[in-house]
Amino acid sequence: MTTHHIAILTGDGIGPEIMAEALKVLTLVEQRSGVHFELTESPFGAAAYFDYGHPFPEQTQAVCDAADAILKGPVGLAHAEAMKIPVDMQPERGAVLPLRARYNTYANFRPVSLPKALAPLSPLKAEVIGEGIDILMIRELLGGLYFGKKVIGIDDNIRFAEETLRYDEIQIRQVVKTGFEQAMKRKKLLHNIHKSNILKSSVLWNEVLDEVAADYPEVEVVNMLVDAAATHLCLNPGQFDVMVMENMFGDILSDQGGGLIGSLGLMPSACIGDGKAYYEPSHGSAPDIAGQNIANPYSMIGSVAMMLEYSFGMVDEANQIWAAMQGVFADGYTTPDLARSNSDEKVIGTDAFGQRVVDKLAAI
Ligand code: IPM
Ligand code: MG
Repeated sequence: MTTHHIAILTGDGIGPEIMAEALKVLTLVEQRSGVHFELTESPFGAAAYFDYGHPFPEQTQAVCDAADAILKGPVGLAHAEAMKIPVDMQPERGAVLPLRARYNTYANFRPVSLPKALAPLSPLKAEVIGEGIDILMIRELLGGLYFGKKVIGIDDNIRFAEETLRYDEIQIRQVVKTGFEQAMKRKKLLHNIHKSNILKSSVLWNEVLDEVAADYPEVEVVNMLVDAAATHLCLNPGQFDVMVMENMFGDILSDQGGGLIGSLGLMPSACIGDGKAYYEPSHGSAPDIAGQNIANPYSMIGSVAMMLEYSFGMVDEANQIWAAMQGVFADGYTTPDLARSNSDEKVIGTDAFGQRVVDKLAAI
């Protein structure tokens, strides 16, 4: 029997609740597929800092090193709580970025997907949604402002902070190539999102992209400024298929993507490099709603689907999970983040949504 080792990093806030539902789904996949998933839970995030003195403790690093894939929940605390942790030990800086760097996961896949039948979940008008939204945003994950040199200091009695946006051509080439590869598997259309009218890093990015494009003559490239892309996403999301962009642009536009389809709760992601990948919701740990059984587990369950597809090649199983989740919405159920006052849909909690997904999946 095939065994896949998975590190489970439950995280903070709503992490435990949504991870529990994701693992229910994974367990059913295991029972049905005959593949064994060996799960090892490890501390990661703010709770890990308080318990072990580090948000990405050494024992967790060892578990992740030994795993075939990593499934990670959201991390972070509300502002007042986060202030109790030294800046560099706060989990976003002290755990998430080191995790990304450790496994060289340079390409972050963030699907923004809403089938036509679920158009009412979106705040956009049905005619804007058209035949549905199906965008794959690919965000560079290891460069730019996130990882550039940082200086803080005082100049002439004025406090300043300086952060460097640096990209080299190797970093650009690898993620852009990923964009072209995905475009080849989809509609052969690639939107290159940049800001080359201002940023020199975007000028270099576009130069490298043009070089890589020569290897993919079938792919149509559309170059679009990032600010314009923000508008186009609202006005006509159907024009996009695969989008590729640098780190910070991708952080922002992917959250906009969540807004387009109705909730950040619908945004799973895959962090992919040449070796091990890890999977996480695109959203944060929502400490304000933690423990209330109202968080949407879709993004966490969707991250399981992405893990099955990208790390284990279990494409059918992944597609069945998407179908099961969409089926729950189609049956007239919804989670509190998506509930609309003028509708007769039934609002259900985190565990009930997860259970309905399991039931649907079992019936597929
Ligand atoms: C995301 C999050 C992270 C980021 C945080 C948690 C470090 O916002 O994955 O989009 O900014 O990359
Ligand atoms: Mg973000």
